[in-house]
Amino acid sequence: MIISIITLFPEVFTYLDFSIIQRARNKGIAEINLVNPRDFTGDKHRTVDDMPYGGGRGMVLKPEPIYKAINHVKQDERGESFVILTSPQGILFDQSIARELSLKKHLVFLCGHYEGFDERISNAADMEISIGDYVLTGGELPTQVIIDAVVRLIPGVIEQESAEKDSFSNSLLDYPHYTRPQEFEGTKVPDVLLSGHHAKIEEWRKKEAIKRTLVRRPDLLEKAHLTEEEKKILEEVLIEEMRIMEDG
Ligand SMILES: C[S@@+](CC[C@H](N)C(=O)[O-])C[C@H]1O[C@@H](n2cnc3c(N)ncnc32)[C@H](O)[C@@H]1O
Repeated sequence: MIISIITLFPEVFTYLDFSIIQRARNKGIAEINLVNPRDFTGDKHRTVDDMPYGGGRGMVLKPEPIYKAINHVKQDERGESFVILTSPQGILFDQSIARELSLKKHLVFLCGHYEGFDERISNAADMEISIGDYVLTGGELPTQVIIDAVVRLIPGVIEQESAEKDSFSNSLLDYPHYTRPQEFEGTKVPDVLLSGHHAKIEEWRKKEAIKRTLVRRPDLLEKAHLTEEEKKILEEVLIEEMRIMEDG
């Protein structure tokens, strides 16, 4: 996958130079290019923003340098570019969007700043994405969040089995994980995980994932496609949880 990031602050993209994303880059699975719209201005001040028509607060990003930057990064990609505009007004980012984006050949990210983009810039976008209902200073953090979630889903970046069992992959939260020591500050690792009995461990993990989802994110269960076995486990968990509530 090729990822082009159009940003006024290329120096803040250091997160992508480490760990799993860096390994994906080294393996040639993801190529990341940073493009500064200031390089597509025609004046000596390299102006990328201007005052809003109608007056009011903040500066607005001008359309021309951004459009030129988009055309520049799109030119070699034979119409296979997918342009994402980061915006608090966009569709809320989640694992299913991450999965959809992980199949694309070329992603182009537009990072806003100041008061945001001239509205006409949204005409160049295939999707507007928000990473949550809060307002950040710029699109640089949202872009890195989205890239991190997307790149780890590309085959060959992390073990496929690990990605499939992560939270949200089948509309459930992940089960709890433990490592050494067997006891820490009075809390022991559940016996079943030390038993070496793979079928029982698998069963425990399924149940814990369903229990966690029920307790922490019941909204996810409403849209989950559970297998018959998982439905049965959910019934058991519901009964157990009701008993716990009745016992106070
Ligand atoms: C200060 S914000 C602009 C906010 C805009 N005036 C509004 O209220 O909708 C500047 C830029 O940060 C980015 N941004 C801020 N919050 C974001 C969020 N929750 N998700 C995605 N991008 C965000 C966008 O690129 C946005 O253009």
